[in-house]
Amino acid sequence: MTNTDTKIVLTGFMGVGKSTVARYLSKFLSSENRDLDDFIEKKETRCIAEILNEDGETAFREIETKNLRKILETGARVIALGGGAWTMERNRKIIKQNNYTSVWLEATFEYCWRNIIFSRIERPLAKGKAKTHKLFQERQQIYCLADWHFIVKPDSDARNIAEQIYREVFT
Ligand code: S3P
Repeated sequence: MTNTDTKIVLTGFMGVGKSTVARYLSKFLSSENRDLDDFIEKKETRCIAEILNEDGETAFREIETKNLRKILETGARVIALGGGAWTMERNRKIIKQNNYTSVWLEATFEYCWRNIIFSRIERPLAKGKAKTHKLFQERQQIYCLADWHFIVKPDSDARNIAEQIYREVFT
């Protein structure tokens, strides 16, 4: 039996695997899978990289917050956030107000970086290893404000992490 009131947002650095874990978790819960970046792209009819490259980060964050409100209103049980969404205080407030529990997926920088460079997704805020590492370090203290914390080890697979979250957070 799962606690039917529980709804979570998944946060963590780019490349940690939030979207994949969210997909597995939604399957376990037989619920719809929601991904904030996909949601933004559909609503704005532009891809995230285009928005960031054309409008800049400040404008992107405004768009992100606007769409975060909308996606939370859907009441989906699992929402994968983009890696920067949780770092904005206003977003953390909105997430709480909507009774969502936050779950931080943490991996080493090297793990995330490998996934970033081998990914087909363009991530304008992850340009250059040194700069991205700095961003990673700066964000650790904000990610750790999440309600739950799960470690992604180099040999752990997304299905196992999802199972762990399912067991510990939802039941
Ligand atoms: C960002 C992470 C990306 C995306 C955008 C900005 C960030 O999502 O929202 O490129 O600031 O960390 P992923 O974490 O899914 O890559």
